[in-house]
Amino acid sequence: MYESMHILVTQLVPEAAIERLRSAVGNGTLDINPEPDHIWSKRELVEKLRAGNYNALYCMLTNRIDGDVLDAAPDLKIVANVAVGYNNIDVDEATRRGVAVTNTPGVLTDTTADFAWTLLMASARRLVEGDRFLRAGRFRGWGPLMMVGQDVYGKTLGIIGFGRIGRTLAKRATGFEMNVLYYDRHPADPDTDKMLNARSVSMDELLAQSDYVSLHTDYNPETHHLIGKAEFDKMKPTAYLINTARGAIVDETALVEALNTGQIAGTGLDVFEKEPEIHPGLLELENAVLAPHIASASLDTRTAMANMAADNIIAILTGKRPPNLLNPEIYEGSK
Ligand code: DGY
Repeated sequence: MYESMHILVTQLVPEAAIERLRSAVGNGTLDINPEPDHIWSKRELVEKLRAGNYNALYCMLTNRIDGDVLDAAPDLKIVANVAVGYNNIDVDEATRRGVAVTNTPGVLTDTTADFAWTLLMASARRLVEGDRFLRAGRFRGWGPLMMVGQDVYGKTLGIIGFGRIGRTLAKRATGFEMNVLYYDRHPADPDTDKMLNARSVSMDELLAQSDYVSLHTDYNPETHHLIGKAEFDKMKPTAYLINTARGAIVDETALVEALNTGQIAGTGLDVFEKEPEIHPGLLELENAVLAPHIASASLDTRTAMANMAADNIIAILTGKRPPNLLNPEIYEGSK
């Protein structure tokens, strides 16, 4: 239980969460990066942490939290990430220092699945390309061969990673009478498969059969470049790749090559290997729909994520175990 806690917030989030932290902080301090669009570099973050004796770091997926950053804050008790993905945090380093790490699972599931669906539809039906075409003054009237795309209903959707978001995408697909295949090291139970009209298959079968392949795994050393040249070779030339997970799950250079050579038909991406840098080859392609990592960006969901991260900090402040703790080992040996 803390009399006063010093909290550092690395980027402005919806006011409801700031209010939550403000009313819980008591005699402590709540310091917030005042520039909404400025992402602190590692050096800036280290400087801020050194200057403030912080006990809680409320951070974004754009902040790399490694041993150097943790060393700059010896009084730190929690790193609360405003994201479900936490590949930006070296959890082992935090655990070694007894620092809790938390994320925001569940609250962004539907919104992210909706956006994966948006990318799928926009890619298949050439919506963004059509918008560019029209604005460039090239629309001369309805044409039987103009902007023809590919159907979605009745086609095969392959979902790689059948966790919360992957399953929710499968639910969306049932309304479009799609055939759903998925690949996951831990297949769902038969009731779930039945309810979602989905079938667990090998990665090779999924790649060979799917008209749309959507990625929903987390990013870790094992999923780095999970989709590369060898996988594009196995996909249909009419297939589309959708990625709302993490950029580096896909080998972007191989993707650009696959799109340029017609190995696959198109892609819809919300995440990139070296965000915010975008592979220049992608920017030139008409058959790539590109979004700036906004799959969870509805006001309701961003508010829920921000509140959840705040609640994890408040739990520590009030002597409780944070609800979304990723490293329970820090409590081992304690009651
Ligand atoms: C997450 O929570 O990991 C998402 O990428 C944020 O949109």
